[in-house]
Amino acid sequence: MLKIENICKTYINKGDSCVANDNISLEVEKKDVVGILGSNGAGKTTLMKIVSNLVKQTSGKVYWDGLSLDEHKYIVKDKISILLEGTRNLYDFLTVEDNINYFALLNNVEGKSCKNRKDYLLKYFDLYEKKHTIVNNLSRGMKQKLALIVALLKKPELLILDEPTLGLDINSRFDITELIKKITHEMKITTLVCSHDLEFIKEISNKIAVFDKGKLIKYDYINNFIMKSSYLEYEILFKGDNGLEKIITNDLQKKLTEISIDKIIKIEQTGNSIEKYLEGLRKNG
Ligand SMILES: Nc1ncnc2c1ncn2[C@@H]1O[C@H](COP(=O)(O)OP(=O)(O)OP(=O)(O)O)[C@@H](O)[C@H]1O
Ligand SMILES: [Mg+2]
Repeated sequence: MLKIENICKTYINKGDSCVANDNISLEVEKKDVVGILGSNGAGKTTLMKIVSNLVKQTSGKVYWDGLSLDEHKYIVKDKISILLEGTRNLYDFLTVEDNINYFALLNNVEGKSCKNRKDYLLKYFDLYEKKHTIVNNLSRGMKQKLALIVALLKKPELLILDEPTLGLDINSRFDITELIKKITHEMKITTLVCSHDLEFIKEISNKIAVFDKGKLIKYDYINNFIMKSSYLEYEILFKGDNGLEKIITNDLQKKLTEISIDKIIKIEQTGNSIEKYLEGLRKNG
């Protein structure tokens, strides 16, 4: 189990200070996939870097299976992998295979087991045919797949993904979403994943953590988020003749039920089409 206990992080640069994490406590069970949401600057990446020992917290502790990461440095090296945001995880001028070999060496994944795992992952991610290609010549989606392979080489128990779908086109995003869903289930890896892509988070996570201005403001099972949101009451005012009102109300009621909002009080026709209105509602959760 991952236990994040009272983590605070204040960055200090040239006399200016910035509180990036403000007393964060969070427990993640084995095999959980926790989606982390929050606006820009909310402190998501900082927390992920603290859990990976890339940034030192100002105070607080992180435990994996009851052992503090500060006192047992080998845990991060052996059991935790992080995929950083953007595509800074690979060497562009090396081939796919050379990248894998290099990171395997750094992670003590050597010998026959390395060869088997390497081939297995290349096939799993459909990159086997590209193993002699220079990374610079891969598409962004392929680079992201390779970065995932590198992160999985050492068979991590905890996988941390910072915006893994950022900048991907619809097809690559779909591929990466399916792959992450597959690896988290088949390889049973506990995962922290942060993204601004709500659909993606909804598809892969079983729990969601919401950050705001350095604080964790909500942490719950995804089903509870959806259930709670279905109890929200929307006041929508509609002005028009009664017949039209009835048609629109029925239509809206049906559509709102489909997106699990089950209560309408009044309806307002604002000149926007119903579809646009619904889109707005959906965007606002
Ligand atoms: N190395 C740093 N030095 C100083 N301040 C930093 C540093 N890294 C992050 N910060 C600040 O800490 C706060 C949290 O940043 P962080 O990158 O953790 O946010 P985030 O939630 O990941 O945002 P985004 O969604 O944009 O990726 C921000 O105000 C940011 O400016
Ligand atoms: Mg970030």
